[in-house]
Amino acid sequence: MVNEQDVERIVKQILSEMGGSSANSPAMGAFTSYTSLGGSTPSADIPKTAHVAMLVEKERFEVKEFPIPPVGDDDILVRVEGCGVCGTDAHEFKRDPFNLIPVALGHEGTGEIVAMGKNVKKDSAGKDLHIGDKVVTCMIFRDDPEITMFDMNKQNVGESDVYGLLPDDEYHLNGWFSDYIFIRGGSTVFNVSDLDLDSRILIEPSAVLVHAVERAKSTNILRFNSRVAVQGCGPIGLLCIAVLRTMGIENITAIDGNEKRLEFAKRLGAGSTVNFNDFQGIEALTKGVYDSFGGHLADFAFQCTGNPKAHANIYKFIRNGGGLCELGFFVNGGNAEINPHFDLCSKEINLVGSWVYTLRDYGTTFDFLKRAKAIGLPVSELITHRFPLQEINEALKTNLAMTGLKIAIIPGNR
Ligand SMILES: NC(=O)c1ccc[n+]([C@@H]2O[C@H](COP(=O)([O-])OP(=O)(O)OC[C@H]3O[C@@H](n4cnc5c(N)ncnc54)[C@H](O)[C@@H]3O)[C@@H](O)[C@H]2O)c1
Ligand SMILES: [Zn+2]
Repeated sequence: MVNEQDVERIVKQILSEMGGSSANSPAMGAFTSYTSLGGSTPSADIPKTAHVAMLVEKERFEVKEFPIPPVGDDDILVRVEGCGVCGTDAHEFKRDPFNLIPVALGHEGTGEIVAMGKNVKKDSAGKDLHIGDKVVTCMIFRDDPEITMFDMNKQNVGESDVYGLLPDDEYHLNGWFSDYIFIRGGSTVFNVSDLDLDSRILIEPSAVLVHAVERAKSTNILRFNSRVAVQGCGPIGLLCIAVLRTMGIENITAIDGNEKRLEFAKRLGAGSTVNFNDFQGIEALTKGVYDSFGGHLADFAFQCTGNPKAHANIYKFIRNGGGLCELGFFVNGGNAEINPHFDLCSKEINLVGSWVYTLRDYGTTFDFLKRAKAIGLPVSELITHRFPLQEINEALKTNLAMTGLKIAIIPGNR
């Protein structure tokens, strides 16, 4: 539904495109923009237009130019510094499963505030916001703007809107694969000026693991001296290892078929690795995991692949009474066949599922990234490729080719 303020904004935009000075128009008196006195003074020269990578059809982005809308009293204009490419972006690029085309993608982004409305004073955690601050966004509560990060009523943000997965609208500046993004009132925003750019790009995927570990802790099994198996060493599994390591957990076995990823898993905190290609059949593989823990099965396991076979396998690696967190299926990957008697019931496995995160996990994630850096984990090396905005199609293809780990778009690189 378009409200009165939206209408004003659209009219104002059209007028300004026609060359009229809408900010001074009496009809628009109630409405402020960064060119009028109501908003904060912008920090830098703000161009009139922004460049947005729009997915215009399957497997094709076009970098389009749109006017930057006037910044209303509750809005924030952010100059984008970087945005990670997520598996979800890759799905959308390839198949448009969310039926969003044309869409401005990119939800793992961060940048600097260049203009903000007069009502914007604090971030969603109560921290002051100023022009020049570095920010990330989380979900948008259009229907419930009163929600705060300490409101635990929302268990999970899976169903909420996020920038980078919004239908296109009259603003167009809706995704982080762009050089400017327009953050509207009712969005969650966090001031993360104390994190470096690489860490900020990794906030969103890291929050998935902070949440998964919180879910795992709810079983009461995970302790600092637990034996933990992490299956799958893509960005998700690798970040899982790093989160566990920052919590003091050292007895970690990483399982994957890619030796390079397993090597990196060791640098991020895995004590040992198991390459499934070295084993024939599930019994041999289970023995491999057992040996990696010096003759023990895992106390707890994290399933971080989207492979149903891997879900079926992982029960074998866990001791009786142990725990399992399944987080590998952000999207439907099909059914997995387990034996409920042997795998779950008689073993008394404590199983939890984990999907995205809550707002509170965001706060923990900032501390995780600081701590990871402080103890020397090479988390930023997860970003293996950096592409300028103009090369977004190549960036997505690189993601799909799985030759790197985290691919980032850095609009400042030209
Ligand atoms: N729970 C959530 O909210 C959430 C959020 C984001 C992503 N995910 C899911 O997490 C999964 C992993 O994400 P990613 O970005 O790391 O993906 P990825 O594809 O980069 O990594 C998956 C890894 O699993 C390995 N693998 C595949 N089959 C295996 C097997 N049988 N045994 C061991 N390793 C195996 C692959 O070699 C690869 O290294 C995806 O399926 C994604 O949907 C979940
Ligand atoms: Zn993501």
